[in-house]
Amino acid sequence: MKTNDIAIIYSSSLGGHVAEAAGYIAKELDADIFDLKKQSKINMSSYGRIIIGTGIHAGRPFGNVASFVKDNKAVLETKKTSLFICCLYKGSRGDAQCERVSRDLGIPDASYFPDSGERDENGVKKELASFVQRMRS
Ligand SMILES: Cc1cc2nc3c(=O)[nH]c(=O)nc-3n(C[C@H](O)[C@H](O)[C@H](O)COP(=O)(O)O)c2cc1C
Repeated sequence: MKTNDIAIIYSSSLGGHVAEAAGYIAKELDADIFDLKKQSKINMSSYGRIIIGTGIHAGRPFGNVASFVKDNKAVLETKKTSLFICCLYKGSRGDAQCERVSRDLGIPDASYFPDSGERDENGVKKELASFVQRMRS
């Protein structure tokens, strides 16, 4: 995949977990990165892969992420689109929440990174490291 074929589009709240994960993914994949708190109109025409990142409040993805996905549904359907979620829940509760949010947003390829997730020898959350690996292939 050529450089800058990937865009990370995310929103983070007070904890900054999503911003941190988005920054890590962008650095590892040499991707462009867009913060929905700063801009909500993004020209995605030059990208083949779009990675959407959100946290969860009361079972729902952040509002600006849900709006962006809804407003850009037609374009996102023409891309390889993936979702990552930063959240508290893990295990079967995390799986169920991830599946529901993925379905609600209409992005089947979804992963989640629990705030208290186990970290690898580089200090990177295991789920995040394997997500990046998968996005490379
Ligand atoms: C008010 C509030 C509600 C939350 N509700 C949920 C929830 O329903 N499920 C969950 O797994 N995590 C929940 N969380 C945890 C956040 O989704 C998680 O900390 C995430 O990493 C936040 O992203 P951020 O640090 O970028 O803001 C909640 C956090 C807050 C502050």
